[in-house]
Amino acid sequence: MSVPEKLYEGKAKILYTTENPSILLTHFKDDATAFNAQKKGQIIGKGEINCAIATELFGLLEAAGIPTHFIDRPAPKEMLVKSVKILPLEVVVRNIAAGSLCQQTGLPVGKVLKTPLVEFYFKNDELGDPLLTRDRLLLLELATTEQLEQLRTQAQQINQILTKFFQECGIILVDFKLEFGLTPNQQIILADEISPDTCRLWNQSETDPDGRVMDKDRFRRDLGNVEDAYKQVLERVMATKKSQN
Ligand code: TMP
Ligand code: ASP
Repeated sequence: MSVPEKLYEGKAKILYTTENPSILLTHFKDDATAFNAQKKGQIIGKGEINCAIATELFGLLEAAGIPTHFIDRPAPKEMLVKSVKILPLEVVVRNIAAGSLCQQTGLPVGKVLKTPLVEFYFKNDELGDPLLTRDRLLLLELATTEQLEQLRTQAQQINQILTKFFQECGIILVDFKLEFGLTPNQQIILADEISPDTCRLWNQSETDPDGRVMDKDRFRRDLGNVEDAYKQVLERVMATKKSQN
């Protein structure tokens, strides 16, 4: 029996090998970082909560025909996933203006976008994950033209499915970040995680701009009650999932 080997430690997760070379084990940490790790902390219980939320959302997407890396959740903070070659891209989908979109364009926070915006960022900590143009992305050969269109289409489909689901949870899906990987036969599948770390989620029934925040912005912006917000998202996700079965 081969001993699990730590393959990679990221800011929020650790990846281990398993006995099967095509399967990896992801351990979800309570560690939280923001602004390219300039701010560091912990969100107690986050590992378990994010692993549980990501499990439910990957299941929902798989059921809707979106291929993901998810295989199983053998323990509260652990996920078995297909081993893929992660594309060095952060695919961000926005429904409502917030965060860097507002900072960089002057759009007011909360402005509903006429159509969802799909953006590509270069996943490169040293460069601070810069926003890419289509031509820069192709210049750097981060994806082919065909892959780029596939990523855009999948991101839009995922947005439709998740927006509807979160609406049923009483949550507005403001924006989110996705990562994709390539399987050995060059299929693009959804990877990484989808959780309050990687989404902006606003409580539908709350109008206060800080009070409505149910995601990592509570940590980024020192809004307090971070753990409660993450727990609340999980509870609503589980309740909505249950009501649909
Ligand atoms: P932004 O407004 O800061 O560009 O973030 C857009 C979305 O992407 C937001 O839901 C948070 C998520 N995100 C990540 O998951 N990781 C990151 O490193 C960044 C910058 C954003
Ligand atoms: N920028 C990421 C975030 O704010 C985390 C980090 O880069 O440290 O979600």
